[in-house]
Amino acid sequence: MRLIFLGPPGVGKGTQAALLSEQYQIPHIATGDILRAAMANKTPVGLEAKSYIDAGKLVPDDVIINIVRERLKESDTKSGYILDGFPRTIKQAEALAKTLEQSGEKIDRVLYFELAEEELVKRIAGRRSCPACQKIYHTIFNPPPQEGICTCGTALIQRKDDRPETVKERLTVYRTETAPLIQYYKEQGLLSQIDADSRVDEVTRRVQDAVFQKSS
Ligand code: AP5
Repeated sequence: MRLIFLGPPGVGKGTQAALLSEQYQIPHIATGDILRAAMANKTPVGLEAKSYIDAGKLVPDDVIINIVRERLKESDTKSGYILDGFPRTIKQAEALAKTLEQSGEKIDRVLYFELAEEELVKRIAGRRSCPACQKIYHTIFNPPPQEGICTCGTALIQRKDDRPETVKERLTVYRTETAPLIQYYKEQGLLSQIDADSRVDEVTRRVQDAVFQKSS
């Protein structure tokens, strides 16, 4: 099963992708996580990406397309995957389509998560992430058992790009560059709309319904 999770920053794509990845035993490929790991390791890609991410801009298409192409060659993707945060532009979507065509594969479903902007801002403001295992928490909606500490024992951090001024820019970039993908995938008959304005477990149920309807 090959899925794409599409939606604005903070809507809960990463939270849901992690749950589904565990349930279906398919990899969760999050381009944001890959870039943050590259930044932490100070690789050439990480150093290039840093200025874009810190400013709330998109990393150039060519850079991200190469990263995903290489990742999809790995053996764990053979039975499927969840792409979280990719594609984010029409150019990225077209590059993905070409890559899949070459390997005779196709995307099964695109899940588009929807939430009002004021709720997105609340979710982002309270987000805390684990730099070691990437687990995501929220200070109010999904707090860790021990304040400030992940269940893996690592101190939680607040992402630098979750500062209010950067969030505003990320939302603008989403509206102009990523939102056109909603229509793009709707026209291909691949889109399922998910109302993300509920508790995590209820949204998970909606995600499973959308995926199950497709695969049944
Ligand atoms: P990326 O890491 O992909 O960020 P994003 O798409 O902006 O998404 P977020 O991680 O902010 O949110 P999410 O939807 O995953 O929500 P989450 O589950 O964490 O990208 C970061 C940057 O990298 C980009 O700005 C760009 O620079 C670069 N980049 C990445 N991919 C790129 C690409 N393809 N092309 C170019 N550049 C790229 O949840 C948010 C919070 O809400 C959490 O605290 C969570 O606990 C809480 N929460 C989740 N669900 C619920 C719920 N149902 N109820 C209450 N709280 C909830």
